Amino acid sequence: MRLFFALDLPGAVKARLEAWQRTQGGIWRWAPLESLHLTLAFLGETGETQVLAARRIGAVVAARHGPFALRAKGLGGFPRDEAARVLWLGCEPSAHVEALSTDLRRELASADLSFDAKPFKAHVTLARSPRTQLTAPFGLPTGELGWEVRALALMRSEGGGRYAAVAYWLLG
Ligand code: 2AM
Repeated sequence: MRLFFALDLPGAVKARLEAWQRTQGGIWRWAPLESLHLTLAFLGETGETQVLAARRIGAVVAARHGPFALRAKGLGGFPRDEAARVLWLGCEPSAHVEALSTDLRRELASADLSFDAKPFKAHVTLARSPRTQLTAPFGLPTGELGWEVRALALMRSEGGGRYAAVAYWLLG
């Protein structure tokens, strides 16, 4: 199965993003709200034995990091804001989320589990587009958008932009 470590978003944040999505035009294919998440490490196709090792790593790493606050900061596009196929919600810089991702990746590497080594960029993918678009006309979700991160998740990709949690561990 295709696995990745991620942070789930609280229902209240998803509800705010849903309300904002309804006001937006464009040809974006919006991600299913229940699937919105922030990826910390992407393992890709993973066999049964490796899933067990990944679960052990999730439990160990989650225990080492306490809960922390994350705050959204603006929208961006991959590969570029001016010509985006992916529209994402960014986060204020957070030493906590960086440390969590670094710790996971270090443990994965020392357990010989492979993962996508692209530098970590904290973001929540909101939508995808079949052709490139400008992210600018979208504006920002209004008001404060912050939340408390309390758990680490190991998630499985189910295709079509849908994901399911394999395991959750409370932080700290
Ligand atoms: P994205 O949101 O920027 O597409 C499941 O695919 C999750 O893992 C997505 O959040 C995706 O990020 C992330 N991811 C990171 N590296 C990936 C890769 N090489 N292939 C697919 N998804 C990847």
